Amino acid sequence: MYEGDIASVLISEEQIQDKIAELAAIIAERYPVGAPEGDLLLVGVLKGAVFFMTDLARALPIPTQMEFMAVSSYGSSTSSSGVVRILKDLDKDIAGRHVLIVEDIIDSGLTLSWLMRNLRTRNPASLEVVTLLRKPDAIKVDVEVANVGFDIPDEFVVGYGLDYAERYRDLPYIGTLEPTVYGG
Ligand code: PRP
Ligand code: MN
Ligand code: MG
Repeated sequence: MYEGDIASVLISEEQIQDKIAELAAIIAERYPVGAPEGDLLLVGVLKGAVFFMTDLARALPIPTQMEFMAVSSYGSSTSSSGVVRILKDLDKDIAGRHVLIVEDIIDSGLTLSWLMRNLRTRNPASLEVVTLLRKPDAIKVDVEVANVGFDIPDEFVVGYGLDYAERYRDLPYIGTLEPTVYGG
């Protein structure tokens, strides 16, 4: 697939799946099964987090429920306002629930920082984040993230949910793109 477009594999399919098993074990320990707050509620951020969300849910040895949000940042990387628009909101009230936001990547941190502030106003019993990837050199706003899969260099990466112009999400690994792809 995508012959000639991928410059290198940064994180292999096996490395991703091993990490998910590791994260799932750590996360499961923190959420008591049968708590009065109900099952752990995974909130996936569309669309990038979809693959991570489904693999994580199946790796977690505790019951979970799923909700999704779709958000869109105003402007692009030049915007540092952190203003985010909700394209699709949660279907259910999260008050009193244990909520775990599931993200594919923290780049500037603006999306997540806004989302955490937004969801906190809805009074969940707890609110944490798990992200598969984080770019420490690209972060503009500090977000407290309990669970990080991999810290990666500030390079453009695709695959396993991450896109370039909506393509490459369906790759099972994380890779870097050939510069010719950007050139058009
Ligand atoms: C990407 C990624 C994160 C966000 C991270 O989503 O999936 O959600 O950007 O960037 P930030 O830390 O700088 O805010 P994108 O907006 O591209 O939408 P997508 O998930 O549908 O690709
Ligand atoms: Mn996203
Ligand atoms: Mg994207």
